[in-house]
Amino acid sequence: MIKLPGKKIKIAVFISGTGSNLKNLIIFSKRKNYEVKLVISNKRNAKGLIFAKKYKIPTKVYYLKKSSKDEKKILDILLKKKIKLICLAGFMKILSSSFIKKFKGKIVNIHPSLLPKYKGLNTHARVLNNKEKYSGCTVHFVNSKLDSGKIILQKKIKVLKNDTAKTLQKRILKEEHKIYPKALQMIIN
Ligand code: GRF
Repeated sequence: MIKLPGKKIKIAVFISGTGSNLKNLIIFSKRKNYEVKLVISNKRNAKGLIFAKKYKIPTKVYYLKKSSKDEKKILDILLKKKIKLICLAGFMKILSSSFIKKFKGKIVNIHPSLLPKYKGLNTHARVLNNKEKYSGCTVHFVNSKLDSGKIILQKKIKVLKNDTAKTLQKRILKEEHKIYPKALQMIIN
């Protein structure tokens, strides 16, 4: 992703919930090579929208029920705001392959497992059920297959004896907050 000297890449962050990754990306953006110019949520009450407002970042809610119509509106606003990179951060909707094609190589996601293992939901419970020694998180490009695009950065952590899905989730989320801004830094130059 090419950045003009002295200019920051404009990114949009897509969320559905808490938005701790969004908050973290906003904080890091102050000293990184990107700026968060838009936050899109498919839920009106997503907690993350509060952070966006606090930092005076424009927000939009699209329920994406009739996907194509909302996706068209999203594409329009992304173009209008000159967004060059989309960061999915706990975004629980699957974008259509035609949308992904239009932003080819410019959509990234963070997933709470060591991909290609444990794609999809409930990763931590599945990791524990399978008595895995390690888990972690992955930042990857988005393609039309779920959690399957090229990996940008991963962090591996040990699963502890007494871990529950909740404790594992908490420790992994901390690592997510470190690797997501790092991964952006790596792909923007
Ligand atoms: C994170 O664990 C992320 O990896 C997953 O959803 C969670 C979102 O957390 N895709 P938050 O909303 O950023 O706090």
